[in-house]
Amino acid sequence: MEDIAFLKWLGTFAAVGLIWACGRRFYRLRHIPTVGGPSLPILSYLGVIRLMHDARNMLHEGYNKHYGSLFKVAFPNQWFVVVTGDKLIDELRRLPDDVALFKDAIKDLLELDTTIGPAFHADPYHIDVIRTQLTRGIGNAFPSLYNEIEDAFEELLPVYANQWTVVDDMLQKLQRITARVSNRAFVGMPICRNNTYLDLVIQHTMDIAWTRKRMILIPRFLKPLAAMFFSRALNDINQGHELLLPVLVERRNKFDNQEKDPASGPSDYLDCLMEAALLRGKGLESVTQMIFATNFAAIHTSSNSMMYFLYDVAAHPDCIPSLREEIQEVVRDQGWTKDAVGKLLKLDSFMRESQRFNGTSAISVMRKSVKGVTFSNGQYVPPGVVMVVPAREIHFDSRVYDNPDVFDPLRFYTMRANGVNEQFANTSTSYVAFGLGKHACPGRFFASCELKAMAAHLLLHYDWKFETGKDRPENRWFAVSVMPDTDVELLFKKREW
Ligand code: HEM
Repeated sequence: MEDIAFLKWLGTFAAVGLIWACGRRFYRLRHIPTVGGPSLPILSYLGVIRLMHDARNMLHEGYNKHYGSLFKVAFPNQWFVVVTGDKLIDELRRLPDDVALFKDAIKDLLELDTTIGPAFHADPYHIDVIRTQLTRGIGNAFPSLYNEIEDAFEELLPVYANQWTVVDDMLQKLQRITARVSNRAFVGMPICRNNTYLDLVIQHTMDIAWTRKRMILIPRFLKPLAAMFFSRALNDINQGHELLLPVLVERRNKFDNQEKDPASGPSDYLDCLMEAALLRGKGLESVTQMIFATNFAAIHTSSNSMMYFLYDVAAHPDCIPSLREEIQEVVRDQGWTKDAVGKLLKLDSFMRESQRFNGTSAISVMRKSVKGVTFSNGQYVPPGVVMVVPAREIHFDSRVYDNPDVFDPLRFYTMRANGVNEQFANTSTSYVAFGLGKHACPGRFFASCELKAMAAHLLLHYDWKFETGKDRPENRWFAVSVMPDTDVELLFKKREW
């Protein structure tokens, strides 16, 4: 009897707690209009259900109705406040870290403590190393990156000059090629070609999603224990650490010896990560964690972009001759270097247009308010609320782009010729594919060089087209995520140039 009474009390307590939490969330944001469903506690889950399959229309509706102000949409467990209009987006961009943070926004969304580890969120020191060493070192690293591009395509895309070959798993191939090329810069040879390691870094993104889905249901105090047993994402990192350990030990020894010889500084991404870790008194496990976090940010974003590029080229074959002509001229003159890739202005424009058209998410510039934020139009966002920018709506806004629904490969080339700085990696309030402001993607200059080198290599060495009778497939959407549809096959042929 006592047990039943206790359970009744517990049930009542939990129900009151839930209603209080939902009510508080509703009350705090009641002045910001809701789009896509009811605002009321519990009922707002109808908006979550709609968001899962109709996010594009919900955001479109909100953008058109509330342009120049804020609106909110329901996400599982929280509201997202959507910031629109150049002026307010620029205000969001300028918010300092003690007012709004990117890492806090993704901490809850990705369950970072149980997917990458609690120490990661406290000090994600890889970001500075990407921004400084990785970016500055692209020129020196380029010969090895291009060597990896040549080798990886040769091995993973075995097609012939005189016949079309069907390639039905191109996205998986691109994931592996991108992982190999990126890891040539992140961890070097030979580990960048170790298939077990590559499987782990590619799978890690899916395992973060798998782990997150389960951990979200577990009470906070039980999460550390549950993570020890059920976190596939942490398991990837542990397995990866065993593979990386010999390399890490070698690098640490090198660093110890360098300490005695200050003339020899760190030389690549891994050296710099090691230095940053050791200066913070962190162990080698922390370096592995940062390597996995770098791969998580880099591989699927980059391979999806390459897949969109392949589709967009196949859908606009009339652009191919002028793209090839530009690449041939530059490469014949200068060879394969970072500076040569920087001169491929038409290719740069094509890639930026492809990114504008597709993108990896319908939202960008995610920031969680640490303190309350009052925007210049008077709307107030209380602490603890995630704010986002509607990337797709901006990229398809006719106030921003002429004929935004038309894929114009030379759109940014022409803008650049007219003095507007619209390069692939540039960010602005009208182009947010790489985010905006202090927390804009630090890997975008690396990604821009790597992806353009891969694209130029593909254009010179291969022809490709859709299988007969098929057009470019529409992208797939899940909630706000955008992915290439992989049901359509591509046919490839080798070419001489
Ligand atoms: C086409 C490829 C890529 C796309 C579309 C992309 C996109 C993004 C976006 C939208 C953000 C959030 C920015 C914001 O909220 O303002 C971001 C953050 C980030 N990206 Fe990328 N990214 C790409 C490639 C890469 C690569 C290759 C790396 C690493 C070498 C990387 C590392 C990161 C990191 C570490 C962050 C977090 C930054 C922070 O917390 O301050 N990304 N990326």
